[in-house]
Amino acid sequence: MSIVTTTQMFKKAYEGGYAIGAFNVNNMEIIQGITEAAMEVKAPLILQVSAGARKYAKHVYLMKLIEAAIEDTGLPIAVHLDHGEDFEICKACIDGGFSSVMIDGSKHSFEDNIALTKQVVDYAHSKGVVVEGELGKLAGIEDNIQVSDEDAAFTDPAEVEEFVEKTGVDSLAIAIGTSHGAFKFKGEPRLRFDILEEVQRRLPNFPIVLHGASSVIPEYVDMINANGGKMPGAKGVPEDMLRQAAKLAVCKINIDSDLRLAMTASIRKHFNDNPEHFDPRQYLSPARSAIKELVKNKIINVLGCDNKI
Ligand code: G3H
Ligand code: 13P
Ligand code: ZN
Repeated sequence: MSIVTTTQMFKKAYEGGYAIGAFNVNNMEIIQGITEAAMEVKAPLILQVSAGARKYAKHVYLMKLIEAAIEDTGLPIAVHLDHGEDFEICKACIDGGFSSVMIDGSKHSFEDNIALTKQVVDYAHSKGVVVEGELGKLAGIEDNIQVSDEDAAFTDPAEVEEFVEKTGVDSLAIAIGTSHGAFKFKGEPRLRFDILEEVQRRLPNFPIVLHGASSVIPEYVDMINANGGKMPGAKGVPEDMLRQAAKLAVCKINIDSDLRLAMTASIRKHFNDNPEHFDPRQYLSPARSAIKELVKNKIINVLGCDNKI
């Protein structure tokens, strides 16, 4: 098995009423935890790499680790650039072996977003790589850039057909109330399913992507705080809402913050319980297992993509 593209994955997910998990990866333990979970429950997988991840671990290390995971597990894995902000980073990832890139033109005007996205699509498609675009703006933090609630904007369904037609994108990320990071909803969580349904009506059989989809699992926040951390209680996206979205047009669900919480909770607890430990393998082994457990739960209970390979 080699790196695969998402075209077939999304077609089957759309028809089957489930979603593929797109998990952010930054190092070996995260990649192993995610891929071992997916192998056990026979799930297709998207591993995604942000600009920050490429800076932290270097493109070549992440590629080699993912290739090793594919060799080890035999899983169909797509490798995706998360939130590419310009043509150059998308080109570097396409030339560097990714099978999918996101060009995030959501901070630009509608016209400029179309022009930039089309430039990336033309190059990507000439190399057999698929492209995710974004319309609408999520609140939250990516690569340390904070988008405030006031600057966030729901996707306007009236724009989606023109955007997809003029750019040729293969999938579309939309803003329906999710946000990046561990602090998502001040009040009760609410997603604009009316927008998702209208987008689906206008773009039949077209794969939609949900960013900012961590549930900010309270057990991990509690474990962090019980072991010396200081995280304010925060509400994430409820799992039943994600299930509902996956039954509609959402074929890709992005999860990063929950991985961070699981890993950090495990490491904090480990040091509290074992203050004398200093061998990284002692605390990274349980952290990797925590990621594996989390991902298995997501695949079975949230995404519904177990036994789909
Ligand atoms: O949406 C952003 C992802 O969580 C990646 O975060 O840019 O800090 O790597 P990062
Ligand atoms: P979370 O911060 O909710 O995990 O979202 C991750 C994401 O959207 C990556 O692109
Ligand atoms: Zn995102």
